[in-house]
Amino acid sequence: MTRFPLPPNATIGLVGGGQLGRMSALAAARLGYRCHILTRETDSPAAQVSHAVTISDYSDPVSLRAFADAVDVISFEFENVSAEGLDLLSSIRPVRPAPSVLRISQDRIDEKTFLNNAGVATAPWAAVTSRQELDDAVARLGLPAVLKTTRLGYDGKGQAMLRSPEDLDAAWERLSPRPLVLEGFVDFAREISVVIARGADGSVAAFDTVENRHRHHILDLTLAPARIAPSVDQAAQAIARRVVEALDLIGLLAVEMFVDNAGKVLVNEIAPRPHNSGHWTIDACPASQFELHIRAIAGLPLPPARRHADAVMKNLIGPEGMALWPAALAEPGLIPHLYGKAEALPGRKMGHVTRLFPRGALPGDFGIEAALGPLAEG
Ligand SMILES: Nc1ncnc2c1ncn2[C@@H]1O[C@H](COP(=O)(O)OP(=O)(O)O)[C@@H](O)[C@H]1O
Ligand SMILES: [Mg+2]
Repeated sequence: MTRFPLPPNATIGLVGGGQLGRMSALAAARLGYRCHILTRETDSPAAQVSHAVTISDYSDPVSLRAFADAVDVISFEFENVSAEGLDLLSSIRPVRPAPSVLRISQDRIDEKTFLNNAGVATAPWAAVTSRQELDDAVARLGLPAVLKTTRLGYDGKGQAMLRSPEDLDAAWERLSPRPLVLEGFVDFAREISVVIARGADGSVAAFDTVENRHRHHILDLTLAPARIAPSVDQAAQAIARRVVEALDLIGLLAVEMFVDNAGKVLVNEIAPRPHNSGHWTIDACPASQFELHIRAIAGLPLPPARRHADAVMKNLIGPEGMALWPAALAEPGLIPHLYGKAEALPGRKMGHVTRLFPRGALPGDFGIEAALGPLAEG
């Protein structure tokens, strides 16, 4: 029987072996916990810094059972475990966040339905399961629009932008026969996000709202705090709190949002785990998103998600990102993070750098470029 709060030296099971698991494991180690990673990869970023690893498919019941037996509580950096797998894990050990939360975030239609039912606005959307339904959805939502697979999308994978009626056939050809969702295109002024932690006692701690810039559909820069009107900030914070409470989530939640040109905040997607747009918190906050994640699932008290500095986070992506690593190490003031991935494949997140500024001194775009030095163009 697992007892909370987890005592020192307890073992936290983390499903997924990537950089989010690695940084969670580092935070867990500082709090005196061990991590046991479940991953398919033989040399994963998370296992390199953890106490133990089970290398297996996420659906093999024998491995899932052995993994669950070996740990005190189970959490995730990778959410796409099958429903049966989640049920098996939760029959053996507490799973935080609960399987019901993961099921919602695994499926874009379940997610949007949940959000809309909780009174949270999204882009207009329609489920698409046939070519005829795609025509109907386009007739209803108009163009431009974005067609997405309902499951297993990340970094813009599993999406097609529809600009004109001629784009429909190719998009359908590429993405079907998987279940799809069509979303109205949001001509956003900014993309923002809020990372919020919630403990088993219902206490919450939310980091400041940040601004995200994508390149080729992959996060490139995060600016903390977001340069938005106080009313927009309050709306974003209120949405994050509403969503985490409606989910009854124990752990960490990231809420990605659009701010449209009228200042209205729409939720794009949610992730019940640490998030790339929260990496700046390692360097700019006394307790990072990873520490709050570990504290929440371990039943420890949640400290306030306070920020002692303004920050810019820049991702190092693929071979181009790795080519900048020597400069990231040499440039004074850049705080470098590397994830231990053997191969710099195109589009792969290899590491990131953070640059801190005194509170209130986050510069404008030119100042940010200057502060990133040789990395600004990468
Ligand atoms: N409906 C939309 N309107 C405008 N931009 C969008 C829309 N959907 C996605 N995007 C752009 O694509 C990016 C990735 O889409 P997202 O749904 O967050 O998928 P992923 O799971 O790949 O992060 C978003 O951050 C945004 O820049
Ligand atoms: Mg996203």
